[in-house]
Amino acid sequence: MEKLVITGGTTLTGEVSIMGAKNSAIAILPATLLCKGICTLNNVPNIIDVNLSCQILEQLGSKITWVGPNSLTIDNTNIYNTHAPLDLTSKFRASYYLIGAMLSRCKEIEVGLPGGCNLGARPIDQHIKAFEALGATANCSQGKINVSTNKLIGSNIYMDVVSVGATINALLASVFAEGTTTIDNAAKEPHIVDVANFLNALGADIRGAGTDLIKVNGVQELRNSVTYSIVPDQIEAGTFMLAAIASKGDILIKNCIPEHLDPLTSKILEIGGNVEICADTIHVWCKNRVNKTVVKTLPYPGFPTDLQPQIGVVLSMANGTSIINESIWDSRFQYTAELNKMGANITAQGKSAIFEGVEKLYGAPVFATDLRAGAALVIAGIVAEGTTEIFNLKHIDRGYENIEKKFASLGAKIERVVEK
Ligand code: UD1
Repeated sequence: MEKLVITGGTTLTGEVSIMGAKNSAIAILPATLLCKGICTLNNVPNIIDVNLSCQILEQLGSKITWVGPNSLTIDNTNIYNTHAPLDLTSKFRASYYLIGAMLSRCKEIEVGLPGGCNLGARPIDQHIKAFEALGATANCSQGKINVSTNKLIGSNIYMDVVSVGATINALLASVFAEGTTTIDNAAKEPHIVDVANFLNALGADIRGAGTDLIKVNGVQELRNSVTYSIVPDQIEAGTFMLAAIASKGDILIKNCIPEHLDPLTSKILEIGGNVEICADTIHVWCKNRVNKTVVKTLPYPGFPTDLQPQIGVVLSMANGTSIINESIWDSRFQYTAELNKMGANITAQGKSAIFEGVEKLYGAPVFATDLRAGAALVIAGIVAEGTTEIFNLKHIDRGYENIEKKFASLGAKIERVVEK
């Protein structure tokens, strides 16, 4: 078993470069199934969820070759299997993208019901509603879902909830659908735009991605090759912005798209931190204890739920009492119990938590309860007095490439230790 051991009390300073976006990569990898030739993807994060996606695609017939540390080619000339491996697909959430992609490619797919972080109920009713609107039939039983169709026909899809996954899945399934598809009340996250840009680079006709009304004019075929670079990961960038604030440090974050971080930048300025934006870099620094605030997570361009635990660490040490309202997930405050072990004073109930700011956190053994909770605990360990051990690293490694190396390069005393 591995653990991260952090000797805290560090002020983080220096430069860090942001990896490609996890949530784009794990959507664009299955999206390559729509291309009957070879796609070259650059800026691919080398993380567990990407490696899982690759393993699943290989079992469907894809030939994947890493041609650089963050570049791969994927040859989908021969896709022969429409039954995705249940043990792998049930390990992470994004396996649901195989449904939209394989409906377009083979008109049929069977996958395990998607797993992923335990953040509360994670239904896929809106995905199924979109597939059915396009003319597919879905059957769920014994932990798996089978979706098939004779023909995909363009339709008007209204999403009852704003869903990143359902919007991308509807896009994937409608590229070849006969006629025009509209997706109304669509999610607007940067990775939706990234998936649409990737598909359009292949010859799809998708308009309006990044707004709440997306229009897809069905095409008959796509090009046989494309080279595409995945956008930078705004959640990794936000994690380092908040690490700079929590540690009263000074970090230059390179290779990011600052406007994707606007809601976080506003919050940091509001609580007394400093942010300077220049082209594709964000400079964040803070000298004093920050002030209390209220945070409400919302779909993009609102404050991202995936940065909620990380700002929770900052607010646990703010001057005064802060409140976080989580509006996306039912169960995203599990990390607060771990932070309380480190001396925080947080009361979480349902989808709200009250943070009574304390002066200091203290090192303790803690468990990463999910991916972003794990990142939050790394920040907490770096600023806490004493030694913190973080267990359950499988969550953190799903979404952060070389997390300990990147923090160590900013001055953190952090190492990965294999426990016997
Ligand atoms: C994606 C991200 C995840 C992020 C989330 C919200 C990936 C792989 N994961 O998850 O990191 O936290 O967006 O930004 O990109 N819902 C339904 N029915 C559905 C689908 C969703 O009711 O069919 C609800 C969910 O329960 C949730 C809300 O809609 O309350 C948003 O979920 P959604 O945007 O779909 O999240 P994911 O795509 O799973």
